[in-house]
Amino acid sequence: MSIIDLKSALELNKISQGTVFINDLPIVRSGKKSDFMIGNFFCRDQEAEFRIWEPSIFQTVIDNGPGIYDAEVVGNSYNDKEYLTVRSIAPSLNPELDKSSFLNSIPPILLESNLRRAKERLTGLGVTAKCWKLIDLVLNDPSLEGRFQIEGAAIRYHDNVIGGLQHHTTKMLNILAAVLENNPQLRDSADLLCFATSVHDIGKVFEYDNLEVSDFWYASHRVRGIEYLSRFKERIVDDYNEEFYRQTQAVIAGHHGEYGDRPTTVATAIIHYIDTLESQTTRLIQELEAAHDGRIYDRDWGFLEGLKLGEN
Ligand SMILES: [Fe+2]
Ligand SMILES: [Fe+2]
Repeated sequence: MSIIDLKSALELNKISQGTVFINDLPIVRSGKKSDFMIGNFFCRDQEAEFRIWEPSIFQTVIDNGPGIYDAEVVGNSYNDKEYLTVRSIAPSLNPELDKSSFLNSIPPILLESNLRRAKERLTGLGVTAKCWKLIDLVLNDPSLEGRFQIEGAAIRYHDNVIGGLQHHTTKMLNILAAVLENNPQLRDSADLLCFATSVHDIGKVFEYDNLEVSDFWYASHRVRGIEYLSRFKERIVDDYNEEFYRQTQAVIAGHHGEYGDRPTTVATAIIHYIDTLESQTTRLIQELEAAHDGRIYDRDWGFLEGLKLGEN
């Protein structure tokens, strides 16, 4: 069985058979006749909502959870919203497919060249070799098993791809370089801003597990990041001082601005703005690329007309 092309499967009344991937556990709602399931199939850039009307059919998804399934689906629509009705579904028997067949990944070569460019720019703006060494120590600790380079930056909203966490962090370092260029006064704190930006989301390797929520997701990546950083406390205090360590803790705790603990330092506020600019720009582009009619819907602002986009 081959992977179902989600975009073409959505065509009204079209029947498709093939393999699909469910990344998050779907929800069950109560309907007029009986309970039904609503969820999403993912494949690379494509995403399609699905519905399963029969409890006897969706029970297998509840029993087996997110994963790869073989299914028969029919294109459907309700109030102009397209979705797939699932007629049958069972765990896939194809051993050649795994999650990476369905998730996008950022080519490691691109990740490396982006990081190299960010490093060169920031070194020119005052970030020291001592700081890069410390960043390397924290992000590449053997206990993480290279997951900083693999994990996504989010499961849904931005950079929800393999390598997304490193990609998001590197793009933030590039924005930080622009901020340091524009504001020479900040360059005395270049090491702190660069280190704190590099580790601000490190806790995501514990919040997520291969782009799924982990068992302990509820202790957020901010809490887990602070906990993880404490392993390096002595080294950080030796290399710099306690203030550097506490300032970094404050950035990890407060980098979500009003959506988490409020920022308590200027460094936190600056990194929060960089984080927001980076993640929101990436989200807008991802949504526009997936949009059917060249415009997107924003929760706060309503419809936003699109913009011409090239290949990435
Ligand atoms: Fe975060
Ligand atoms: Fe972030």
